[in-house]
Parts: sequence; C-alpha cells; structure tokens
Amino acid sequence: MNPLANTTAGQLASLPAAIPIHGLHHFAYRCRDAEETRHFYEDILGLPLFHYIRADTVPSTGEYCPYVHIFFRMTDGSCLAFFDLGDNQLAAPSANTPAWVNHIAMRVDSVARLEAMKIRIEGHGIEVLGVTDHRIFRSIYFFDPNGIRLELCAQLADPQQMQQEQEGIHARLDAWSLEKAQRLADISAVLPA
Ligand SMILES: [Fe+2]
Repeated sequence: MNPLANTTAGQLASLPAAIPIHGLHHFAYRCRDAEETRHFYEDILGLPLFHYIRADTVPSTGEYCPYVHIFFRMTDGSCLAFFDLGDNQLAAPSANTPAWVNHIAMRVDSVARLEAMKIRIEGHGIEVLGVTDHRIFRSIYFFDPNGIRLELCAQLADPQQMQQEQEGIHARLDAWSLEKAQRLADISAVLPA
C-alpha cells in the first residue's frame, strides 16, 4: 500500500515544487539479442553504440539475472537502451493494445532526410509505413528486431504554430474525458448484468 495515500491536500501543497525535467536520458527495453540489436541501430539507423554494461545482478533490485545493457546515442545525447538477458527471448507484445499504439518517435532534420531514411531502411529489407502527414510533422514507421514500433519524424510546424496548437488544450482534453465516460456508460448499459 502506498504510505502516502492518506496525504492531505495541505500536506501535498507543502511538497517541493516539480523541478524542470529536461528530456530523455534513455529509454530501455528488452532485446532478443544484443548483436542483432546493435546491427539494426548502429549499422542501419546510424546510432552509435555508446555505452556497454555487463552485470550479473540488477543494481536497483539486487536480483540475480546476468545481462548485457547496451545504449545507442542520438545526436542530442539521449539514448535508446536494451537489455539482453541471454535467453534469446523477445518481450511479449501487449495482449490488449493494438500494435500501432506503443512506439518511440525520433526527430530528423527535414522531410528530405526522412524520405532518404525510408529508402535506406527499406533497402535493408525492412517494411516502412509512410511518409504519413500529421499536418504539424511527417512520419515514417517501422519495427525494430525486438518488435518495438519506431517512428522517425520531421517537424513542419514552427514554434509559433505550435503555440497556436495549444489554444484550449485543457478544455479539449476535458471534452474527451466526458465523451469517454459517456461511451463507457453506453457500453455498460447494454452489457448483461
Ligand atoms: Fe508518434
């Protein structure tokens, strides 16, 4: 049980303010095989292998589980990281989430570079979806060898347009919450008791 579950509103108000969180340090996921994953990220996507950890116990939990942890660096210093647990097993896909939902999106400089990467990735025999126009950016989509859906995107909208996009954003989210509650109520109304 969460020991803070009974924290009062007054106690919450006296907590330290949220400090700035600057960006992605790394995203970590299970991989089937470290070398297979290195080939994909380093040789095909061009993200250099930046850091390597070989350990037998998990630092955070103390659990015994021999593994290799590898990091691939993007130009802003953030990384995609993977654990090879030495068993050639993929992480099981989510049983209740469509394959297009969970993904990682990474930024490239321009639509021309996005299109060049599509040609490069397809040339390595990997299926690529897109270029898809999202109005404020364009994207391509493909899967890594571990079943992770990846997106590369090129921004179209400038900061001023992005500012305009934010107008009424909380009200629009509230409207979705209401619509969703109504949909769920409609569904439960027709379900047998
Ligand atoms: Fe996305």
